[in-house]
Amino acid sequence: MQQLSASLKAEGKTIGFVPTMGYLHDGHLSLIKTAHAGAQVVVVSIYVNPAQFGPSEDLSNYPRDIERDQLLCRENGVDIIFYPDDGQMYPDAYATYVDVEGLTQHLCGATRPGHFRGVTTIVNKLFNIVQPDCAVFGQKDGQQALVIKKMVKDLHIPVQIIIAPTIREKNGLALSSRNKYLTPKQRKEASVLYKALQLGEHLILDKGELKASVIIDEISKLFQNKPDFTIDYITIVDTLKVQPIEHLSGEIMLALAIYVGKARLIDNIIIQVPRDQIPEIH
Ligand code: PAF
Repeated sequence: MQQLSASLKAEGKTIGFVPTMGYLHDGHLSLIKTAHAGAQVVVVSIYVNPAQFGPSEDLSNYPRDIERDQLLCRENGVDIIFYPDDGQMYPDAYATYVDVEGLTQHLCGATRPGHFRGVTTIVNKLFNIVQPDCAVFGQKDGQQALVIKKMVKDLHIPVQIIIAPTIREKNGLALSSRNKYLTPKQRKEASVLYKALQLGEHLILDKGELKASVIIDEISKLFQNKPDFTIDYITIVDTLKVQPIEHLSGEIMLALAIYVGKARLIDNIIIQVPRDQIPEIH
């Protein structure tokens, strides 16, 4: 892959990269479309990265269908699929990891210790292998997007990071490979995740509610008396340090993770809250 990238670059071609864990859906296809708009050659990686799964998580059950993925890539004009195996990515005595501090402390970082260390390590490795000019990630994994942008900035990685909007089903449910775990009834009811985010946005922008605790309490009510739904977190953070905030001002991310039956689903929205007026000093 490195040799291929080097020869493409020698021909003056730009490389757009979409890292995935496979089981592609319309969300991934929109990332591929974005990559096509930003580069001449599009590389998709398909690799279920064990380093980002905790010991009791769904690594072995994670949905896989390489034949279908290959077909979808072909239909969507992908030039190269990079499909490594565990022995190539983490050979015996593998020892090097990349860790972004602080931004990985809360939200999914709190529930899934080690998850982001696994993500930033593999993304770093994939960048070194694919040598892309730009790479496209989805806003659906909002904390991941912020963490990767921070890693690229801190480590001076010469890759332009593009964050593409979340693609949703008609009822608002964000597309995710993990939606496969839902029963048809749960899939219908899971529209409440997006409704919860919209309620938060409405309270902030239309009602002027700027206290995170009040907004989170209101949103939590939507999940009461729903036996299939368990809240992991509903949190509001700033997008710079990804720390929970109580008084909202500037760019914030309202994010949630909800267990729906067997599936743990995440979703988020970014909201621009008018900044506090700073009193003029005469
Ligand atoms: O978003 C994902 O699918 C994964 O976290 C990624 C970026 C492909 C790294 O394994």
